Amino acid sequence: MADMPVFMIDAIRVLSGQTVSPAPVWLMRQAGRYLPEYRALRAEKGSFLGLAYDPEAAAEITLQPIRRFGFDVAILFSDILIVPHAMGQDLTFTEGEGPRLKPPLEAARLEELTPARQHYAPIWETVRRVRAQLAPEKALFGFAGSPYTVATYMVAGEGSKEQAAARLMAYADPGRFEELIRAISADTLEYLSGQVAAGADALMLFDSWSGSLSVSEFERWVIAPTAWLVAELRARHPATPIIGFPRGAGSKAPAYARETQVSALALDEAADLEFVVANTPDTLPLQGNLDPMALKAGGAALEAGLARIREAMAGRPHILNLGHGIDRFTPISHVERLLELHRR
Ligand code: CP3
Repeated sequence: MADMPVFMIDAIRVLSGQTVSPAPVWLMRQAGRYLPEYRALRAEKGSFLGLAYDPEAAAEITLQPIRRFGFDVAILFSDILIVPHAMGQDLTFTEGEGPRLKPPLEAARLEELTPARQHYAPIWETVRRVRAQLAPEKALFGFAGSPYTVATYMVAGEGSKEQAAARLMAYADPGRFEELIRAISADTLEYLSGQVAAGADALMLFDSWSGSLSVSEFERWVIAPTAWLVAELRARHPATPIIGFPRGAGSKAPAYARETQVSALALDEAADLEFVVANTPDTLPLQGNLDPMALKAGGAALEAGLARIREAMAGRPHILNLGHGIDRFTPISHVERLLELHRR
């Protein structure tokens, strides 16, 4: 027993298969616009991307929700679209419009882009700074978008309804779409590997749009590239847990967990917990899945939502979280209430 670690981070214990009670808790998009201290810094610095590429500001924003609420996990303040930016698309965020990537790959070819890998350096520096400032019992999660979700933005050049342009390219020119997925996967591997080298304790892969794919397309464009990324990351960083978030996967979630070999499964608010619990191994850690609107509503909806999750997750390695990002108009007092109910 002499070389057992004296001290371990709760969230990492859960991700290695242990049950911790009460479950560690954090919220997707916990660093962001519902926080007045974020809005203040954002107003001062002017732009979201300016913040993301400024390690001092990004580290501060990453730590803001930990200071205010004492969450168990800090999630790196960055964005999934840093990868297409580094691959050579021009990235802008316009207030009220969402992200724009130019040129959209619907019209342009990947080979026409000029990669700018130096974009990753400030993000890695943010990770280094956060890990140095974060209490040792708190976890720092790094993240990236999954290749399919990133491809949906690269192809359309923006957030798109039902991801139609990417799905169309995947059917009409699968060879070209495969090349794009491979290129994103290769860059994402380096980006995430750098986050681990800089001090990230675990990684999360956001596949926000995986829910729009048919079963066979899901196998090819979600499961296969994720399995590749997980295997490559694990070969380089065997001790670093990887959480997969196949949002909207529904009944495909157990196959996703089994075939990708992710360390843990993050569940959206529509996921059927009883189904997932019954159809995945007891040792597979689960993260989620409170409805962000139940948190925004507060009161009885929040209490009932939390109680339902805690009951379904009893005895299971679990990290409490939302099923998707926190809504920007969520009252701070509802977040405080959630933590009070969960930790009492
Ligand atoms: O707190 C955290 O969770 C960490 C930071 C984080 C951001 N984006 C910051 C951000 C994370 C993990 C993301 C992931 C992300 N980004 C996803 C996957 C998760 C999901 O929500 O499905 C996606 C699809 C994106 C792409 C993206 N980034 C969009 C569509 C937008 C515009 C819409 C919006 O909410 O404004 C962003 C901008 C963005 N990313 C903001 C933040 C805090 C808002 C920027 C601002 O105006 O201040």
